[in-house]
Amino acid sequence: MSHDVRFLGPDDLRAAHHLFASALLHAPLDDAAWASAGAASYAPGRTLGVHGADGTTLVSTATSFPTTTAVPGGELPTAAVTRVGVRADHTRRGLLTALMRAQLEDVAERGEVLASLRASEARIYGRFGYGVASRGRSVRVRRSGLGWRAGAPAGGTVRLIDAAEIPAVVAPLHDRLARCRTGGISRTAGWWGSMLTRLTDTHAVLAAVHTGPDGDDGFALAVPSDGETFGRATLAVKDLHAAGPGATAGLWRFLLDVDLVGAVEADLRPLDEPLELLLADPRDCTVTGVDDETWLRVVDVPAALAARSWGEAEPVLLGVHDPLLHANSGVYRIGDGAAERTTGTADLECGVAALAMAYLGDRRPSELAATGWWTGHDPKALARADAAFSTGTVPWCGTFF
Ligand SMILES: CC(C)(COP(=O)(O)OP(=O)(O)OC[C@H]1O[C@@H](n2cnc3c(N)ncnc32)[C@H](O)[C@@H]1OP(=O)(O)O)[C@@H](O)C(=O)NCCC(=O)NCCS
Repeated sequence: MSHDVRFLGPDDLRAAHHLFASALLHAPLDDAAWASAGAASYAPGRTLGVHGADGTTLVSTATSFPTTTAVPGGELPTAAVTRVGVRADHTRRGLLTALMRAQLEDVAERGEVLASLRASEARIYGRFGYGVASRGRSVRVRRSGLGWRAGAPAGGTVRLIDAAEIPAVVAPLHDRLARCRTGGISRTAGWWGSMLTRLTDTHAVLAAVHTGPDGDDGFALAVPSDGETFGRATLAVKDLHAAGPGATAGLWRFLLDVDLVGAVEADLRPLDEPLELLLADPRDCTVTGVDDETWLRVVDVPAALAARSWGEAEPVLLGVHDPLLHANSGVYRIGDGAAERTTGTADLECGVAALAMAYLGDRRPSELAATGWWTGHDPKALARADAAFSTGTVPWCGTFF
């Protein structure tokens, strides 16, 4: 069944937001929240919708906002896909499929090389070419333990700022830090408005800025969890970015030393955040989960491969299959520090979602081949691909949308 996917105008956005919130089983925004941050968080001209049989009732929607993603060797224009929802009485009729197809075509026409999203469920987006390209871990650090290891970096100084200062102080700092880490994305004013409304409407926010030898180099936004007694409060970190181990150590030390705090917890932290290496007893840090973070869609494969820096490796021919955006399908020669379309028989093959899993360096081609995501079992070709795709860093974004 074909669906009539249309771009929604400004007057339809509140209905779109209401629909999305209901689909996620969330309460709708009240008038004040919509007026202060809701409307402004929609990038103009990027929201799609399908109406029901009456022609007026919105039954599904998806939107995106423009951002950039830090990739090995540079940055790429990216559509941050968000607020995807289908009314519960219209699911499993192909509405999401129609929206995703229309959105990918639109993103490609805009010249955005990547699309990125956060998935409510892992089984939704793979069929549209999205693959997990960064992951994060949930951690809980207890204060009652042995504290910090002698010799662990002490960090610099930490100052608290008012929540009202966050847009002026923290937003530009985030922008600088996000560019330095593969997987980082830039945030829009609309993203900040929406995030801060959510955070400050319901909580007292602790906004901490870390200063190292070269100036401000990290920040943390944290809120106390509800219902815990004095001395046993848990601080939940909502946002923490740091330029390196010194700033990381300084911020975590600060948070754990706040009076009345018994533990600090955080979700979707970088897999390589060195908490266990900083603590005297590594077991004071409990990892409570590891989840997918970035779902990446390579929208323009030739441009994405050409823009990336590559590890030193003899060339390997990679066949990419993209059943939705056919222009991406083909054989690419990757090696000698470059990647370009070529002809010939591929040494290795993958779907476009599995390309995304290796693109930022989250997964090695050899582990993807061993698990059936890539095909081709020539160990020499796999070793060349591993070397080419290697980044030496762990990708992480740290921005939820
Ligand atoms: C997830 C959601 C958007 C899917 O919309 P939909 O219109 O039902 O999706 P489609 O009908 O286009 O489904 C396409 C395929 O994906 C499968 N699929 C989609 N969502 C699925 C889900 N949550 N669980 C299992 N399968 C799902 C469908 O079964 C279908 O498979 P098929 O082609 O083999 O028949 C919708 O269920 C929804 O709004 N859920 C609640 C809100 C939400 O999670 N939004 C996403 C935020 S990231």
